[in-house]
Amino acid sequence: MSDEQLMDKLTALCKRRGFIFQTSEIYGGLNGFWDYGPLGVELKKNIKDAWWQDLVTSRDDIVGLDSAIIMNPRVWEASGHVSGFTDPMLDCTGCKARFRADQLDYFLLVPHPGIPESFSAVERKALELSPQAAVGILVEDASPDDVLQSIVRRRLGSKRAQVVTVPAKQGDPGTYRFVTDGKSQYFLRPHNCEIDPKSPDHKCPKCGGDITEPRKFNLMLQTHIGAMEDSASLAYLRPETAQGIFANFRNVVDTTRIKLPFGIAQIGKAFRNEINPRNYTFRSREFEQMEIEFFCHPSEAAKWYEYWRDARYQWYLGLGLTRDKLHLRDHTPDELAHYARACADIEYDFPFGLSELEGIANRTDYDLTQHQNTSGKDLRYFDDQARERFIPYVIEPSAGVDRTALALLCQAYTEDTAPDDKGVAKARTVMRFHPRIAPTKVAVFPLVKRDTMPDIAAAIYHDLRHRFCAFYDEKGAIGRRYRRQDEAGTPFCVTVDGQTLEDATVTVRDRDTLRQERIDKSRVLEYLQARLAP
Ligand code: GAP
Repeated sequence: MSDEQLMDKLTALCKRRGFIFQTSEIYGGLNGFWDYGPLGVELKKNIKDAWWQDLVTSRDDIVGLDSAIIMNPRVWEASGHVSGFTDPMLDCTGCKARFRADQLDYFLLVPHPGIPESFSAVERKALELSPQAAVGILVEDASPDDVLQSIVRRRLGSKRAQVVTVPAKQGDPGTYRFVTDGKSQYFLRPHNCEIDPKSPDHKCPKCGGDITEPRKFNLMLQTHIGAMEDSASLAYLRPETAQGIFANFRNVVDTTRIKLPFGIAQIGKAFRNEINPRNYTFRSREFEQMEIEFFCHPSEAAKWYEYWRDARYQWYLGLGLTRDKLHLRDHTPDELAHYARACADIEYDFPFGLSELEGIANRTDYDLTQHQNTSGKDLRYFDDQARERFIPYVIEPSAGVDRTALALLCQAYTEDTAPDDKGVAKARTVMRFHPRIAPTKVAVFPLVKRDTMPDIAAAIYHDLRHRFCAFYDEKGAIGRRYRRQDEAGTPFCVTVDGQTLEDATVTVRDRDTLRQERIDKSRVLEYLQARLAP
């Protein structure tokens, strides 16, 4: 199954089974906003509960917080978001399409007699310097080949020019695209450079029209508070939960007995006016974050950074993401924000490419210093042992709930075969969620709707649902009921059948091994607890 097919199948399943819906779908939806259905909301809740349980409840050095989504706008001046939280973007003067400048690639069309096995560094340099490497083409990185093709045809003045995509060799990221017009061949190679609207080659990738100079576009969503809509009533929907933590640093230190090193954790909604929301829920305009600001003495920041970087990677493995798909990428010095001492991304190999799930950063004393300077309030910490007053450094593990949910959905999606009611192997789709995050933990069925089987099954279900998210179903053939639960990712199904009436045993079916065990019905809770407990 190709990555594209997997994504199509997964989004169809998410809609069909009630994980994720387009928001306000009956009105045509709204780009960048998503709703979570009955199964999706359980999945997200389980992710948030696991995070809170592991990072707040079961530790002595982290406390929780729930700050407001809309805060005093000066918070965002101090944090640098008002002046600096921007993306450069440009518009097409013809079709009015809007692009993020960094999503437009400038390609060189490099004449070459054949497709090389691979591009060595030397070849690359040679091609870059080649005087024939003259043709620049501006395309959106997501441009389909046919859009790219029409741009290339225009540029070469040849109706026959065709874009061909060849997979990269092993170890090389991405694909190579080349162009052939029947006589000559050209490589299409990305060439990062400044976009120049005056260049005849830098045209709109959609219609070929003129483009504007890149302009700064602030990603914060705005609103107005009160009756007047003027600059005095302007406020922002928070673009991250982190600043609510910094703004409450003094309050937490003063009202708890917590001592350095310690963390403040927050889960909540964040909003960004993303220019190009895409890849399903991956880049949304409304999303949820799980953030910790972990404060420590500056001399210990490097040690805590290493600790959090590794601990956070392990956490995702514990939820069922696999090592081959989960990567820890250290930022190079030129990628670091000016205030950050170190930063690493935890990336997941999504069907649409390797993309960030969480960032871990050593943000130094930047944020607290900014808030101290802007608010005029003393945000230093007093260490009464060392008799020292200082602004702590902060290590920030910042994760996205929606991206974690999407990674877990991608990881869980599997197609295999399972025997139907007559024992014939039939294709099935199964969501192999880790039991800890599976939306429904157990489904209970009577085999048929007679001979008190529904009463016994309903009694078991009522007993279980106080402990776990459980589901009762008595409609349709048993094989179909199992398959529905496989698609929902339910780890166990309990079935009451004819033998239950004789010896009070039920079957428990395991979603992954398909094994069915007979156990006494009085032991169902204990059996499940042993297998579902975190
Ligand atoms: N306080 C630091 C901060 O907000 P970030 O890398 O911009 O850092 C942290 O965001 C996490 O929030 C990301 O790793 C991602 O999981 C999630 N996130 C950010 N923008 C998002 C978006 N547009 N849609 C979904 N999740 C997003």
